[in-house]
Amino acid sequence: MNILHLDSGLFVDQSVSRKLSKQIVERVKGDTDTVVYRDLVTNAVPHLDAATLLAEENPLTEELLAELFAADVLVIGAPMYNFTIPTQLKAWFDRVLKAGTTFKYTEQGPEGLLKGKKVYIASGRGGIYSEGAAAAMDHQESYLRNALAFIGITDVTVIRAEGVNLGEEPRQQALQAADEAIAELA
Ligand SMILES: Cc1cc2nc3c(=O)[nH]c(=O)nc-3n(C[C@H](O)[C@H](O)[C@H](O)COP(=O)(O)O)c2cc1C
Repeated sequence: MNILHLDSGLFVDQSVSRKLSKQIVERVKGDTDTVVYRDLVTNAVPHLDAATLLAEENPLTEELLAELFAADVLVIGAPMYNFTIPTQLKAWFDRVLKAGTTFKYTEQGPEGLLKGKKVYIASGRGGIYSEGAAAAMDHQESYLRNALAFIGITDVTVIRAEGVNLGEEPRQQALQAADEAIAELA
């Protein structure tokens, strides 16, 4: 099994999403599995521009697509920044959501071309969005689920620590709940 591990938390040494994504990889990785790690902050993917999009081939885009196609499992460290995902992670999606490669348009509508992949999302959020008034402001997990489904990936498990900026006690509770959820992963 090949695991593609992505991180996009800005604070490399004290990131909640990085801590959780690392724990998830350690939990799901078997002895013979391989891990490809891509740090989207320290090794940022440049924003998509017209020249890149119009070029017949872009080496970095091809590299990212090859990593994605080769992966059986994706583990994505994805904090909520300003109600959505970090711009560094969005730049990755802008490369791999590619018409004719990861999805195609048919007479019945768009069709995702990636099959049989499993995704774990390590989600860190300062506030609470899983319920209550702020739920409508979640464009992070909802974006990830929709964008992944668009390219054919619907087997998505979210490991979430939310409310981590609401005080020390809520933070510890959120981290513990995420630890327990990771321990329960197969
Ligand atoms: C630039 C920035 C924007 C943020 N925006 C939000 C937000 O919109 N909603 C929220 O609940 N928390 C927000 N937070 C808090 C983060 O979601 C929270 O600290 C989470 O743990 C970040 O994950 P990380 O530690 O992996 O970076 C923001 C943090 C940063 C640094």
